[in-house]
This record gives sequence, C-alpha cells and structure tokens, in this order.
Amino acid sequence: MMQRKSKVAALFAAVLMTGSVCARAEESFVDWLLNFQRTKGVKPVADKQYQEECGECHFAYQPGLLPAKSWELILNVEALRKHYGVNAELDKDTLKVIHDYAVENAADKSWYKRSRKIAVATEDGPAPLRITELRYISRKHHDIAEKMIKGNTGVKSLSFCDKCHTQAAQGVYDADTVNIPNYPNWDGWFNKY
Ligand code: HEC
Ligand code: HEC
Repeated sequence: MMQRKSKVAALFAAVLMTGSVCARAEESFVDWLLNFQRTKGVKPVADKQYQEECGECHFAYQPGLLPAKSWELILNVEALRKHYGVNAELDKDTLKVIHDYAVENAADKSWYKRSRKIAVATEDGPAPLRITELRYISRKHHDIAEKMIKGNTGVKSLSFCDKCHTQAAQGVYDADTVNIPNYPNWDGWFNKY
C-alpha cells in the first residue's frame, strides 16, 4: 500500500516538475481533436505517382477504400491489362511503387473511420474487386434513383465518386458534402419519405 502511494507521489512530482510536459500534452490534445475530425473519412492520397497514374481516367481512389487483398488482385500486370474493360498497363517500376503504396495504405492498415468499417466488412470472404460492390457502399446509395446516376450525363456511374462527393479527393464522403449534378435540389430525406 505504502509502496503504491509513493509511486503515485513520485509520478505526480515528476509531472509537476516538468511544466513543459503539460504544455506539450495540451498541444497534442488539440492535435488529437483535429486529427479526430480528419480521421473520420479516408486517408487522402499522398503519393504523387499513384495520384497521376490512377487519376487519369477517374479520380484516384484512396487505397483506404479497399482491403489489401483487393489491391493485390487489381494491381498486377495481368489484371491491369484488362482493367474493367480498358488497358491500364504500367511499367514495372511504376507498378511496384503504386502496388506497394496501395497495399500499405489499404483499408485494413488504416485507422480512418470509413476504412475501419470497410476493413471489418471485408475481413472474411473473397476480395471485392469494386468499391461500389462493397455492401457498406451500396447500402449508402440504395435510395438514389438510377436516373440520377447512370441516366445522369453529369455522373454516368456510381464509380465516379467525385462527381457527387465534392470533397472526395480529401477523403471526405459525408452526406452533407454531396451535390448531385443536375439535381441541385436533391434532398435525401425528401426522396426517401
Ligand atoms: C485507362 C483508364 C484507366 C486508368 C489509367 C485507371 N483506371 Fe481504374 N477504372 C477505369 C475504368 C473504365 C473503370 C470502370 C468504371 C465504371 O465501371 O464505371 C475503372 C474502375 C476502377 C476501380 C473500381 C471502381 C468501382 O466501381 O468501385 C478501381 C478500384 C480502380 N479503377 C482503380 C484504379 C487504380 C488504382 C489505377 C492506377 C493503377 C487505375 N484504376 C487506373 C479506367 C482506368
Ligand atoms: C450519384 C452521386 C453519387 C456518387 C457517384 C457516389 N455517391 Fe456516395 N453518396 C451520395 C449520396 C446522395 C449520399 C447520401 C445518401 C443518404 O444520405 O441517404 C452518399 C453517401 C455516401 C457515404 C455515406 C456518407 C455518410 O454520411 O454516412 C459514403 C461513405 C459514400 N457515399 C461513398 C462513396 C464512394 C466511395 C463513391 C464512389 C465509389 C460514391 N460514394 C459515389 C451520392 C453519390
């Protein structure tokens, strides 16, 4: 008992003596708060080569939108030759950089909130080949009429996240940042009920 008390006292004294520790603790609390806000979504793309090569035909999907096992299937020589109906081949060196970046930042390696959800939902079962096929994602878009997606010249496909999610490039997918092209007055609640 005595021993524990003196340990606590010593710890307390140590904290008091180092005032700078307190200042730093406060600083990191602010950091944590800011981070908490930021880490709600998906980690934004930080690799220049990934951004350039994978942002050519569609916006560069954040690696945190799929688990590593999916990126393994998507980012290899064979698969890229017939990438969803197009040829998206890369030279060997570029492919290695992009593959490693995607795998290292995949949903199951990330602490961002939406990545965590995707990681948990895809833990078991086969690797999904599309973000739009994830139950978590398809469920979120269930109520949007086809005419607003495929029939909408400003969107064309649910795969083009950034057409509606105005902050998709920053990894933010919150419903209140959505703007469906050609449907400026779209209101989720009104359309649902
Ligand atoms: C030559 C054009 C082209 C390039 C370059 C390209 N893609 Fe694609 N990608 C496509 C097309 C076309 C689709 C299918 C879109 C659709 O179904 O509407 C697609 C779909 C995808 C999807 C599935 C999206 C969904 O529906 O959930 C992923 C993931 C993807 N690409 C990742 C990548 C990555 C990573 C790279 C960089 C190595 C890349 N793409 C480079 C053309 C390209
Ligand atoms: C046609 C426009 C459109 C496209 C394209 C689209 N979304 Fe959405 N998304 C929406 C709308 C609208 C909502 C809000 C739905 C609701 O609140 O009922 C939403 C909701 C979401 C949510 C849930 C947001 C929340 O606050 O819980 C996520 C995550 C999301 N989308 C991710 C994606 C991703 C990833 C893609 C691309 C693979 C994508 N979306 C493509 C319109 C779109």
